[in-house]
Amino acid sequence: MARAASWLVAALAVLVAGAAPPPSRAVAEGERLAYTLGCISCHDRDMTGHLVEEDRERLYVWSTNLSRLLPRWRDADIARALRAGKRPDGSDIWVMPVHSFRLINATEMRALVAFLRSVPPSGDVHPPAVFGPRALAAIASGRAKSPAGFLAADIARAPPAVGPRHVEGRRLALMICGDCHGADLKGYEGKGAPPDLVVTSAYGPADLARLLRTGRRPDGSESGMAEYSRDRLFRLEDREIAAIHAYLRAKAATAG
Ligand code: HEC
Ligand code: HEC
Repeated sequence: MARAASWLVAALAVLVAGAAPPPSRAVAEGERLAYTLGCISCHDRDMTGHLVEEDRERLYVWSTNLSRLLPRWRDADIARALRAGKRPDGSDIWVMPVHSFRLINATEMRALVAFLRSVPPSGDVHPPAVFGPRALAAIASGRAKSPAGFLAADIARAPPAVGPRHVEGRRLALMICGDCHGADLKGYEGKGAPPDLVVTSAYGPADLARLLRTGRRPDGSESGMAEYSRDRLFRLEDREIAAIHAYLRAKAATAG
């Protein structure tokens, strides 16, 4: 009797879980996203973190050892940290590209959380960020804000939609490329800086896939983006690259 009841409970749990992927698939997908979104570049494969900025005048900051922190956080806390740049106590999280991560959808978030929870706790807990005199002055004058502080302005400068066919491509471009190419995808001035993504209109879909997976430009030379391609972007799927490519083409055509 007790046995039949537990079988029933298990069967109901399967029904309730519905279309959710089995845990191992979710973990694998979450790991892939942790590459494409850059979590692994900044927090490391084992999520133990490292010193990412060591400018004592400005910001001296470690990426958090997530393997030790997240067991104490609820799933909703993780989602809020990524989408809004806030900790459970309401304090700001610096450095992270919240304008990109706000676009992580529910399925992706579930997978990402499953992966993060699959990583065993290890390594040292790092000290909190230290703001140097120049950072404090910039914060006091309002020139510098946390990513959460810039969020409203970043959302306002996101490029407008270019029709229903490109909703997903736009989301993926802002979520993945926007981290470096800016919340408006217009890039930054200067040699070696990420350019305005209109440059992509000169790329065919296969050219873009090659750049993102290997760091090679259409003419075969190596782009300054190569280290990011090899570090994280090589895990983008064909469907993601195709959607991003189609969106960037349509966006460039709309801009005239
Ligand atoms: C550009 C580097 C960078 C990327 C990319 C990045 N992080 Fe972070 N992350 C940091 C740094 C640095 C901190 C600590 C910020 C601080 O101390 O204010 C942090 C803090 C966090 C926190 C808050 C922890 C705390 O200290 O309270 C969480 C949660 C987090 N990251 C998860 C992620 C996840 C998940 C991803 C991928 C979706 C990611 N991060 C991508 C650099 C990064
Ligand atoms: C982690 C940072 C980062 C991410 C994420 C990123 N890029 Fe870049 N990208 C760069 C940098 C830096 C350059 C400038 C390289 C140079 O000047 O050599 C660049 C250059 C480019 C170029 C011009 C290539 C060349 O060298 O001529 C294209 C096209 C491009 N990126 C497309 C994308 C697309 C599309 C995405 C999203 C799928 C993306 N990038 C995501 C950093 C990034």
